[in-house]
Amino acid sequence: MDSEKIEIFDTTLRDGEQVPGCKLDTKQKLIIAEQLDNLGVDIIEAGFPISSPGDFLSVQEISKIVKNAKVCGLTRANKKDIEVAGEALKFAKRPRIHTGIGTSDSHIKFKFNSTREQILERAVDAVKYAKNFVDDVEFYAEDAGRTDNDFLAKVCEEVIKAGATVLNIPDTTGYCLPEEYGQKIKYLRENVKDIDKAILSCHCHNDLGMATANSISGIINGARQIECTINGLGERAGNTALEEVVMIIKQHPDLNFFTDINSKMLNEMSFLVSELMGMPVQPNKAIVGANAFAHSSGIHQDGVIKNRETYEIIDPREVGINESSIVLTARSGRSALAYRFKNIGFDVTKVELDILYQEFLKIADTKKEINNDDLNFMMKSFNQKIG
Ligand code: KIV
Ligand code: ZN
Repeated sequence: MDSEKIEIFDTTLRDGEQVPGCKLDTKQKLIIAEQLDNLGVDIIEAGFPISSPGDFLSVQEISKIVKNAKVCGLTRANKKDIEVAGEALKFAKRPRIHTGIGTSDSHIKFKFNSTREQILERAVDAVKYAKNFVDDVEFYAEDAGRTDNDFLAKVCEEVIKAGATVLNIPDTTGYCLPEEYGQKIKYLRENVKDIDKAILSCHCHNDLGMATANSISGIINGARQIECTINGLGERAGNTALEEVVMIIKQHPDLNFFTDINSKMLNEMSFLVSELMGMPVQPNKAIVGANAFAHSSGIHQDGVIKNRETYEIIDPREVGINESSIVLTARSGRSALAYRFKNIGFDVTKVELDILYQEFLKIADTKKEINNDDLNFMMKSFNQKIG
């Protein structure tokens, strides 16, 4: 069976930028959008045009420069939002309006003080209205993760009839278990009339650390688009991390999916977003964290020096990192020390290594990490002693 494409919908500039302290100006957004386009994302959610004049301008300017990706603007389910988004997107080669409304009983009661019937009507009206501005209309059922499946199916069916091309099923609060989220997608595939006329999309939040697992479960069960952000940035605990889903799909050919992302750009992309947003990446972050390809314990280092695959499932070059690093700490062994000495030009014999290793342990117990300056110093003192 041919492998199937998963569309990557990047929302770094919308959901990601909602993070406190991460606000970007238009110039910065343009830099990121251009790089996302080069990275190969299928859709760039450029912003929420009605939210501020600055965001409107960003969506408009991004629409002008993006060459390949679809450019998307978020709206609520009301005419004004949709008109403003239509205007902001008018220069885009491939515009998409992303409109929607909360569908869970909690949102219906507390946010809208409304009823299921009224919400359904608003959803349909919003999609129909958005169709006056663009062909490509994505509908989001906010808090779909906690929405009753029968009602969600009804909403999906009606918005498809109204012309929605994509159905976004957000786990807005990051509540679902992967099995549960996957079953929700499966339920929609099996119970919504004309479901093949639209693409199902996963939009998962990371409140319980399950955003990536939920998105993967979603595509296994029939979704064909994942909404995600660089470095997993986003509201509260964040969104699904783009680099994670892309590499899972790549490292698991058994899933039979592919994306158009150039994975070799992932590391630089992560760095760019982190720098411009002023949001450091946690060192142990999967794929792009500083320690993702660093080995520091003696047992692991010995394995990696003999064959990288003993402790690495991804070749670091696949994500744009030149090589794995062997970090010298008090937990390192002789083979790591010899390896690092060799890297700076010293080929040490076994006898020399035994002596140097004892010296190394003394220094390593006083420092977090031994660097090349320390190694040069050790070698100089060693040569003085024996010379
Ligand atoms: O998390 C969410 O439900 C959203 C929607 C606005 C798509 O971000
Ligand atoms: Zn979201």
